[in-house]
Amino acid sequence: MSTIFMFVLAYLIGSISPGLMIGKTLFNKDIRNYGSGNLGATNTFRVLGKKAGIVVTLLDMSKGVIAALLPFIFHNEVHGIIVGLFAVLGHVFSIFLKFKGGKAVATSAGVVLAVNPILFIGTAVTFFSVLYAFKYVSLASMIASIINFIAAIAFGDWIVTLISFIIMVIIIVRHHTNISRIMKHEEPKIKWM
Ligand code: G3P
Repeated sequence: MSTIFMFVLAYLIGSISPGLMIGKTLFNKDIRNYGSGNLGATNTFRVLGKKAGIVVTLLDMSKGVIAALLPFIFHNEVHGIIVGLFAVLGHVFSIFLKFKGGKAVATSAGVVLAVNPILFIGTAVTFFSVLYAFKYVSLASMIASIINFIAAIAFGDWIVTLISFIIMVIIIVRHHTNISRIMKHEEPKIKWM
């Protein structure tokens, strides 16, 4: 399969929004109108509950995993993390949602999982440690993305480092409203940890 076609396929996969689809079909709720208004897993937990939140987390992650594995599936030499980035871009700027979307966290986690499981474990441990300490998913997501980038440098793979940097920037920029809420002490904390 041609590299360009793989990028397009990854972008389309990323553009699918499980949070929106599950909310509308099973709960008759558009999660964009509730909670933070975000289409991601965190807002799904918040608005639709634990079960739906877990399902959407796994589906959003799967988008990244599948995209990053496309080169392996189609015997293409391009690095999986580059294809994965297109799924992240689809998730954030969905072609089906007038180029709006989520905050890149779960889909990026799926990409990292597929490309470097050890890096993923380190990033996941960081995420849950920060979440446990501060109870803010947004803060945990941003710090995990920073640690993921720093740890990627240690692995010495420049392309993983570069894409991890781009993903970190996307995640932090997409959380700008969360950052101002955290500074004003208005960001909701999770209650279940
Ligand atoms: O998954 C995104 C998370 O870090 C923040 O989501 O809904 O609290 O803005 P939310």
